[in-house]
Amino acid sequence: MEPLMSGLIDPFNRSIRYLRVSVTDRCNYRCFYCMPSQGMEWEERSEFLTFEEMTRIIRLFTELGVDKVRLTGGEPLVRRGLLDFVKQLHTLPGLKDLSMSSNAHLLGEQAQALKDAGVSRINISLDSLDPETFRKITVNGDLQPVLEGIDAALTAGMQPVKINMVVMRGLNDGEIESMLDYAVERGADLRYIETMPIGEAGIAGTDYYMPAVEILSRLKEHLGEELIPAKGGKGAGPARYYQVSSGPVRVGVISALSRHFCDDCNRVRLTAKGDLVLCLGQEDRVSLRDGLRNGFSDEQIKAVILDAIAHKPRSHEFNDDNSKVSLRHMSSLGG
Ligand code: 5AD
Ligand code: SF4
Repeated sequence: MEPLMSGLIDPFNRSIRYLRVSVTDRCNYRCFYCMPSQGMEWEERSEFLTFEEMTRIIRLFTELGVDKVRLTGGEPLVRRGLLDFVKQLHTLPGLKDLSMSSNAHLLGEQAQALKDAGVSRINISLDSLDPETFRKITVNGDLQPVLEGIDAALTAGMQPVKINMVVMRGLNDGEIESMLDYAVERGADLRYIETMPIGEAGIAGTDYYMPAVEILSRLKEHLGEELIPAKGGKGAGPARYYQVSSGPVRVGVISALSRHFCDDCNRVRLTAKGDLVLCLGQEDRVSLRDGLRNGFSDEQIKAVILDAIAHKPRSHEFNDDNSKVSLRHMSSLGG
């Protein structure tokens, strides 16, 4: 069968071109809004797809029209063999854009090699520039290596380097302004993220919920200027972007509770175990690993993918009272 030229189109006429791949559910950090402090059960390693299996699935997706892949975790850099995996992916002809999300703890030593291997862009979680607050939020994290990792990514020429700050009232909202200055100084993009009610840990995080409108008004005051929506600022992603006149930097806000981004959602997620997750806020998923390990041909696996995409839900159902929230751990979904 020829690759479908029309690509992957879901029932709401959205074209699916972006696959987020969680390479592991493990993380060297324990951010309290992401993982419960106790009782986190890791998947058995044998449950994980091998990198060979992942490469095959990603190749099939690119043959179906996906041209953008982001590697996520957990923390992707804790999985051994990642660099060779990246090199494999880089040889896929259909893959135009390979990026990664990381907490940057291990990035210092690896940024240049990753860039050389084909990771062109990176998103880094950084919720605080104060070592104590950083530790409080990440539980066992360390600010210094993260700052070094960010600088290494910038030096390696990853472009853009995007900083993600989950803003939490009473915890780090006092740093909204200093984080902007930090990003502007380095030429990094910055995105402020509302807490999302995903999993038990995520629900605990919403105790500190601070709405995006409030973040934006704080920024306006700090900059002494109106925030100008950036050109193409409403991409297919969840962030709304604004241009900052003091730098080339773009500032985004991600509001999980608003549904404005579902209408042009272009993504699906693959978990480390090989489940294809169709929406961050819904339970719908399909195992691709089963077929893979039962000797399915490429065409058979593509048929499973096509059938799954035909069932992609219209939107998430996060809402203000948390009455219907996803019970999965964010850490196995890679955000
Ligand atoms: N709320 C908002 N963002 C979350 N992340 C993980 N858990 C949550 C949550 N409950 C996101 C953050 C972090 C990335 C790894 O995942 O953006 O930077
Ligand atoms: Fe790890 Fe990121 Fe989750 Fe923090 S938010 S525990 S860095 S996966």
